[in-house]
Amino acid sequence: MAIKVLFVCLGNICRSPTAHGVFQKLLNDAGLHDEIQVDSAGTGDWHIGRSPDQRSQAAALSRQYDLSSLRARQVCKADFQTFDYILAMDECNLADLQAMRTHQAKCELALFLTYAKHTARREVPDPYYGGEQGFDEVLDLVEDAAEGLLHHICAHHGLGNGAAL
Ligand code: 4NP
Repeated sequence: MAIKVLFVCLGNICRSPTAHGVFQKLLNDAGLHDEIQVDSAGTGDWHIGRSPDQRSQAAALSRQYDLSSLRARQVCKADFQTFDYILAMDECNLADLQAMRTHQAKCELALFLTYAKHTARREVPDPYYGGEQGFDEVLDLVEDAAEGLLHHICAHHGLGNGAAL
């Protein structure tokens, strides 16, 4: 059975779709898209059904990540049964997820930047109300953590090979 990863932010139109697109490309490039499946969601419901923010799409596309097919959805209780890893972009997202989590849920729930190797930051800052630079900063942090996450999953689940990663 595939290992399932869910990225969560507030609106599911900036940070978590960016993480979704970046991690999906890593999986595709490593030939691991059948073994590891990825999705994203928001704790809020304002943007359900919408495409990622145009600024996130533009910043991602400049690094060869295509987010255009993604659509926002809200995280739900069933996600805690479906996903093996649920990764929050900031402390507020994490607290909201912890409040939703049922006792039996055995998925790993953590801050996404736990897996970043090149920063001491714990949170991916919300770029929504800021300038263009915030979207590039999101990409820098997300790329770092996505690489660390893929290594972690491969090491813990016996996937991939050194050459591919
Ligand atoms: P995200 O950014 O959580 O990274 O998708 C936001 C998007 C929308 C809003 C806040 C944050 N909003 O308030 O509508």
